[in-house]
Amino acid sequence: MALKENIQTLLAQVDQMKATSAEELESLRIKYLSKKGEITTLFNEFRTVPNDQKRELGQMLNQLRQQTETRINELKEQFEAKKAEAERLDLTRTPDPIALGTRHPLSLVREEIEDIFSRIGFTIAQGPEVEDDKHVYGMLNFAPEHPARDMQDTFFVEKEIGVQKPTDILLRSHTSSVQTRVMTSQKPPIRVLCPGRVYRNEAISARAHCFFHQVEGLYIDKNVSFADLREALLYFSKEMFGPETKIRLRPSYFPFTEPSAEMDISCNICGGTGCSFCKGTGWVEILGCGMVDPNVLEACGIDSKEYSGYAFGMGVERITNLKYRVKDLRLFSENDVRFLRQFEAC
Ligand code: DAH
Repeated sequence: MALKENIQTLLAQVDQMKATSAEELESLRIKYLSKKGEITTLFNEFRTVPNDQKRELGQMLNQLRQQTETRINELKEQFEAKKAEAERLDLTRTPDPIALGTRHPLSLVREEIEDIFSRIGFTIAQGPEVEDDKHVYGMLNFAPEHPARDMQDTFFVEKEIGVQKPTDILLRSHTSSVQTRVMTSQKPPIRVLCPGRVYRNEAISARAHCFFHQVEGLYIDKNVSFADLREALLYFSKEMFGPETKIRLRPSYFPFTEPSAEMDISCNICGGTGCSFCKGTGWVEILGCGMVDPNVLEACGIDSKEYSGYAFGMGVERITNLKYRVKDLRLFSENDVRFLRQFEAC
């Protein structure tokens, strides 16, 4: 009778049989159905059962084995279905997009300027933002009493915190200082573009800021002429603002160039017919330029009888305003994502 009870116990167990993984299921199969498994053992015991009980117990045993196999197969199918589902996942599908940051409009424009000039042989040069008077003013032919050197226009750096002694260390007020750095460290021919941040002691408003960005250009070689300067600037303007763009050079004054000029482009907003941006004139000023003053060449150790050169400097914010019509300078440094996101596609 022990066999009968054993069969009934196993039947109850098989009914409750559960597995959480394919491995667990396999160990259940071994436990019950393998050569040494519990059900197989019962079949061995069955041989010793008296003949009159064989019929009943034989049927029960067969039922037990069948039920166990059915249950194991059921569980197996469940695992296989899950596995098939996992395999159905399309691993080649592009993932959900990660929210990317955007390029800052000033970086976009600066890189475009760099790109345009690099196509005519200019390479990038950089210099320090904390500079000395010599490189920012002295070697660039600024007279000792020039108003740009005034505290009202230039930020001076205190050598000792809180002690306002006269100092010649300052935050550069223009990128022309990189010219003097390059000219004193390289021999002509020199053809460099110097992008960077500059600082001026200005009250912050929609139209002025205490820091902004410039790109300086410098070309020194034998026989460089004003016509070369004009051609380079015309090429730049057309590349930057479109092939229909015209330029105009007006005489001006900078201590470090002689002759000097300011350059206007035909207003790219109204196409030169006159609008509020160009104040009805059809022209907008975008840069200062000129032939490098022989005094500057000499101060930097370049023979002004052998070499000549041109220089130009432009404000990146100004060019960006023209390209993207940003009316308030403060937007460039406030990091408002609603402003910055507008340049996602640029
Ligand atoms: N440094 C001038 C400024 O900040 C811009 C400038 C004008 C640069 C004429 C030049 C130049 O190289 O030739 O206003």
